Amino acid sequence: MPHPVREAVEALGPWLSETRRKIHMNPELGFHEFETSRLVSESLEGWGIEVRNGLAKTGVVGLFRTGRPGPTIGIRADMDALSVQEENNVPYKSRSDGKMHACGHDAHTTMLLGTARVLAENPPLLDGVGGNVKFIFQPAEEGLAGGRAIVEEGALDDPRVDLVLAGHVFPALPVGTIGTHTGPMMASGDKFFVTLRGRSSHAAYPHHSRDPILTAGHIITALQGVVGRNVNPFDAAVVSVTQMEAGVALNVIPEEVHLRGTIRTISPEVREMVKGRVEETIRGVAAAFGVEAEIEMLTGYPSLSNHAGATALIEKAGREMLGEENVLPAPLGMGSEDFAYMVQKCPGAMFRLGIRNEERGIVHGLHSNRFDLDEDALPLGVSVFVQAVRAYLTDPQTFDSAAPARS
Ligand code: NI
Repeated sequence: MPHPVREAVEALGPWLSETRRKIHMNPELGFHEFETSRLVSESLEGWGIEVRNGLAKTGVVGLFRTGRPGPTIGIRADMDALSVQEENNVPYKSRSDGKMHACGHDAHTTMLLGTARVLAENPPLLDGVGGNVKFIFQPAEEGLAGGRAIVEEGALDDPRVDLVLAGHVFPALPVGTIGTHTGPMMASGDKFFVTLRGRSSHAAYPHHSRDPILTAGHIITALQGVVGRNVNPFDAAVVSVTQMEAGVALNVIPEEVHLRGTIRTISPEVREMVKGRVEETIRGVAAAFGVEAEIEMLTGYPSLSNHAGATALIEKAGREMLGEENVLPAPLGMGSEDFAYMVQKCPGAMFRLGIRNEERGIVHGLHSNRFDLDEDALPLGVSVFVQAVRAYLTDPQTFDSAAPARS
């Protein structure tokens, strides 16, 4: 028997890929998603959905009310592109030089629009259930914490969101599958900026110098001991020095070296400990060489930990829409994701949506200038969201009770 959700999604026809391509061709960077935001807001209004514009500058929140009492489920998509020059030769290639939807946020925006459209145009799908569905289109996921900004501006309030879901396209998983995981799935991401200030001299007279380059070499090596000798091997952490700038002439020991890098951790305790040890290591090694160290730590996104109830909801919808065998364990990673700010406020979970298709050459990683996705994933993502909404509004207690209480 055809499933009513599958039928409703199929009825959208090519509209999902057309929408995704429209957004793909016009990528906009964080907090500058003006056209995308307008497309989202006008589409939602066209389907009779209540809209709040201008949250966190370009964010849009749509609210679909069943008109009957009940809880509110939120679904979040991010809308921003990256500063990447697209190298794919496809008809829908980015028309904006140096900007590209290389993280699939065009697909996230499209799938959330698709979910809104299916629910708005097919009232029987929510027959007999009460509550609301909130569609949260956030700006600036890529490094600028648009997710935090939109939460601060009330995206999860009025009505309060009881449970929030999100999906992220994932090139390691084949199209037709999703990946789910309860508990920690992605890392926190903090940044450090270091200036080592020594004393410059002629390269042939190093005893007149306080050499910041030699110091930097020892610091980079010593920093690898921070994780190796402080973090329990069963906890995950990464310290990477990723940028180094120094020197202007071959025969001069310079006065300054600049180092930059990133710290990734899962648990908040390990996060604080590693940040502290990184700072102490840099200061201690610099002092040993008589070099002054100026250190700036920038706190980035928290780690993302999926709630049990929200994950169970995604898994149930995934099994029903894609088949038992296509709900896989999500690969864990030390990347970070600002959906974590929403999950700190409200039980929630993110799943990974398979988009890989080797036959079509769709194998490139997120943020690659050759990244692309199999658009067959779009209707699948929509059906998982729609089915999750139905399952939650039908029986919220089952999923709420499996989730830890809101902090
Ligand atoms: Ni992304």
